[in-house]
This record gives sequence, C-alpha cells and structure tokens, in this order.
Amino acid sequence: MEYINNELCLGPLKKRLLPLCANYMRPIYVYDLDFISQRFNAMAKALSGVRLFYAVKANPNQQVLQHLKKIGAGADVVSLGEIKRAMESGFSAHDIVYSGVGKTRHEITEALKLGILQINVESLPELERIGAIARSLGKKAAVALRLNPDIDIKTHPYIATGLKDNKFGMELSLIPDLVACLTKYSDSLELVGFSLHLGSMMMEFSGYEEALRKLKPVFVEMQKKFPTLKRFDFGGGLGIFYDRLDLELEESLLRDYAKITKDILSDLNCELQAEPGRWLLAHCGALITEVQYIKKTSAKDFVIVDAGMNHLIRPSLYEAQHLIMPLKKTTETMKVDVVGPICESSDFFAKDITLGQVQEGDFVAIMDSGAYGYSMASQYNMQELPLEICI
Ligand SMILES: Cc1ncc(COP(=O)(O)O)c(C=O)c1O
Repeated sequence: MEYINNELCLGPLKKRLLPLCANYMRPIYVYDLDFISQRFNAMAKALSGVRLFYAVKANPNQQVLQHLKKIGAGADVVSLGEIKRAMESGFSAHDIVYSGVGKTRHEITEALKLGILQINVESLPELERIGAIARSLGKKAAVALRLNPDIDIKTHPYIATGLKDNKFGMELSLIPDLVACLTKYSDSLELVGFSLHLGSMMMEFSGYEEALRKLKPVFVEMQKKFPTLKRFDFGGGLGIFYDRLDLELEESLLRDYAKITKDILSDLNCELQAEPGRWLLAHCGALITEVQYIKKTSAKDFVIVDAGMNHLIRPSLYEAQHLIMPLKKTTETMKVDVVGPICESSDFFAKDITLGQVQEGDFVAIMDSGAYGYSMASQYNMQELPLEICI
C-alpha cells in the first residue's frame, strides 16, 4: 500500500482507489486480482507439490473464485452454499474438499450426488451418517478424518480449532471407533485422507510442528489397515500482519511453514493438501468508506464513517486492528476513534489511533479486508451490504 501522487494505491501494480469513489453510494470492498495472483503464486512456489484448496469462507466473491480457479486453486468449502458458489465459479466437484462440523443430511446427499472429491469428517456420528447415506445412494464416499490433536497455536480463542475443548475434529482416542465404523460401511465409505486445521492467524509454528509429528505415526498405522489412505490435508491458518505491510517477512514465515511441513510429511507415501484462506486474500482487499461526521466530545474525537461492524466485524469480534488510511495523503494527523453508524458501542474500527487528517466527505480505506470481510457481513440495523469491486 503506498501513495502515488498523494493517492492511495493497492497491490503490486499500484492501482488507484480514488476513481472508484466517483459515484459513491455505499461502502465498497475492493479486491485486486493481480495481488491475489502474486500471493497464490508465492504460496504455490513455497509449497510446491502441495495442492492448494482455497478456503472459500474467506471470500466467496464470484470473480475472486473464478480467478483463483484460473490460476490453479482447488476449493475448500463448509456448506452446500459454498459448494454451489464454487461450482458456479468454475470449480468442478473434483476440485472441492468439504469440511464443517454440522453437515446436514441434505448437504451430504447433495455432495455425494455431485461427487465431491473429499469430505472431511468431523465426528463419529457424521461418519456414520455419511456411510448410511452413501449406502442408500449406492455410492462410495471418499472421506478424510479431521483429527484434533489438542494443540494450542496461540491465537485468538475464537479462531483456535485444534484444542480438545473446540468443537472441531476428532480426538485420537476415537480411532478404534472410527475404524469400526469404516469397516461397518466398507461398501460405502472409502478412507482417503487425514485432515487437520489448528486455527487461524498462526504466526509461529511450534504447535503446528508438534501436531504434524503427532499425527504422522497415526497416519502410517492407518495406512496399513486402509491402503486407500493417500492424502494428508494440513489445513489453513497461516497468519498475516495487520499492523504493517511487510510482505517479505510474511514470505519468509511462509517458507518456514513450508519447510516444517515438508520436513515432516514429505516421506509419507501420500499427496499433500492445504486449505489457505486469509494469507491469500487479506492484503488484496480494502474496505472504502466515506467520513460522515467528525464528532468531538470532552473525552475524545470520533470519525464516524458509513461502514459499520455489520460490514467488517473483525475489530468488534476479534479485537482485530486494521490499518486505516485516507485515500488522499495528508500531512496533518488527528487522534481519534473510527466508528460506524450501528447502534452498538462495539461498532468501531479503531480506537485512539493517529489517523491522517480527514473531514466530512473524505474517504478512508480500512486495509487488509480481503479475507473475512464481506463474507462475514450482515444487514444489521437494516444497513445495505457493501458493494464489491474487483480491479
Ligand atoms: C477447515 C478450515 N480450513 C481452512 C480454513 C482457512 O483458514 P485461514 O483463512 O486462516 O487460512 C479454515 C478457517 O476457518 C477452516 O475452518
């Protein structure tokens, strides 16, 4: 992100943002497709030989999905809605892995009819349900067991998924029951993989390394019983910096992550899969919003913008701190809270920050909003959803 001729620009090709506001009616999410290619290619290079299934939940925008498909991604989905969106965007059923703890009978039936590449199973009753539905359809379901190694990756508790008190995945002690269920449904279940996802915003990899080391011997043992076991899906979760743009440091962390993965898993006789979301998309998007009021009180000054927590919930939900930058460069600064119009005190984007001087009618960009931005948006307070524009 940098200013050229005093205008904020996005991505490696330094695309101007201000012209997008010419006919401004409501907040705009902007996604830079060239930036997405750059991130995808960097990850594909570092994790060469690993098939990348983009986590659709991060950003299911159709143009974004079409672009990712074009440059070689598969899709990781968590609902029938995401399956449909991915397929409408050009992914085939064979490009899709399907995770999620709450798959309904209808969703499983549709996934099986479509021939989804792999269903990542999150509980014993789910495995039983898939076995029974596949049997009734006369199909063989390709399943991967999502295992929960009970490991802490030191992230926000709301996005940790690999601890035993999280609802995700299955404890290793459940393996004998899983084997029994796979055997019971040997006509309708085919064990094809192991899957793992420890959580999001992983910036340090000791927990990840421990998890891979813990699962590796279990995989080897299971492969003896089930020779069809041929994939290891190590999930997503690689974090980014929200407080600065340091792509070099992020790429060096990516290389560390890739090295750990390959050092541990490359001698397994299997294909490797990953499910990245945030790392690919977050930096490639910004939320542009218009300043409505500068409100001064005896306690502090507020910049009130027309985007709210309903458009980007990460600051309210996870205390995430996104950089906020005026679209036109300023020399003066102001110390403010940046807040939205929603009737909640949790409706803020930043507190006590030093912001470039803005006034009513100016535009600011809430940076790094390409992942978990629009996809988590709502119409709370009957606000309109933002626009989305790909550049
Ligand atoms: C099963 C699964 N895979 C992949 C991801 C993507 O994670 P991230 O966006 O942190 O890479 C998530 C995120 O919640 C997930 O639940």
